[in-house]
This record gives sequence, structure tokens and C-alpha cells, in this order.
Amino acid sequence: MARAIDILMNEHLVILRVLGSLEAFVVKMDRGIEGERAFLGDYVNFLHNFADKCHHGKEEGILFDKMLSYGFPAKVGPLAVMRHEHALGREHLSALACVTQGSGPLSKRERETVRNHAVAYVDLLRTHILKENNLLYPMALAAIPGSEMETLAADFDTFEEQEMSPGRHERLHVLADHLVAVFPSDPANASPGPG
Ligand SMILES: [Fe+2]
Repeated sequence: MARAIDILMNEHLVILRVLGSLEAFVVKMDRGIEGERAFLGDYVNFLHNFADKCHHGKEEGILFDKMLSYGFPAKVGPLAVMRHEHALGREHLSALACVTQGSGPLSKRERETVRNHAVAYVDLLRTHILKENNLLYPMALAAIPGSEMETLAADFDTFEEQEMSPGRHERLHVLADHLVAVFPSDPANASPGPG
């Protein structure tokens, strides 16, 4: 497997763990959690910075552009669908981010907003990741020569250095581990998907 695709698939694994944890958080939130708004802020921080800015940034800014140069269309087909799903995810994330701006325990209405958007986001991203792992990345591997794939991996490294301040990526991994430890995924509540 090309290192560029390895990087993206490994990031998917981390994102999936946090999605399972977010799902568990939503279930527990309905029973009342101390500091629930701050925990929600941690999920938004991770998902905004790691999943969207860093991971989707590598895909949209580097991988998709390379696929375009190998003949994949921009406005229809898999790249258009993946970009659209990234945009839908951002809408759910901003709704969750709005709730983190408030203070004190979550109101009934805020809980409902969190539940609706978090559940929709988890479902969206799980299916999205499944499509990328099983369809989009194999298409990229078939179309892009190995030497170009190596360049992509180096471009990912450079992108990460430019987008993230020193140590930020590592801190986001630590945050992911923390959230997964505090709110472990409950397989009984998991929606269908690879996580
Ligand atoms: Fe992805």
C-alpha cells in the first residue's frame, strides 16, 4: 500500500474511534454528565482540527487535485460526492460548535441539537469513510503511479507541518485517546459502519 493512502487510512481509524466515543457521549448526555459542554467542545476541537482541517484538508487540497490531473471529473462522480459530504459534515460540526459557545448545563433544546447533529455526523462520516477506503482510494491507487504517490505522501507531511503548530497533531491524538477512554464506544449503540 502506498504511504499516502496508509496515512489517510490510519487517520480514518483514529476518526472512527472518536465517532464511536461521540456516540457513547450522546447516550450518556441524555442521562446527565458533569461538564458536558466542555466535553462537547473537546469533540468539536478534535473533529474540526484533526478530521476536517488536517485530514479532509489533505484529501481536498492534495489527493483530489492529483486525481483531477489524472482525469477524474470535478463536478460529478466520486470527487464531487466526497467534497459534498465533507461540506455536509462541516454544517453538523458548526451546529455542535454553536452549542459549545453557551455556558452552564445544556438546555433541553441544546441537547436535542447535539443529539440530532452528532448522530447525523457520525452516520455521515462512517459511511463516507467506508466509501473512501473501499472505492475512492483503490481508484486513486489504480490511476496514480507509485512515484507520484510518494510525492503525495511528502506533500501530506508538508501540509501537516504548515497547518498544525508544532506538537498540535500529537496533542489531538492524545485528546482522541482521552475522549475514547472517558466515553468508550458501546458496540450495542453503534450504527452500521466500519467502526
Ligand atoms: Fe477521508
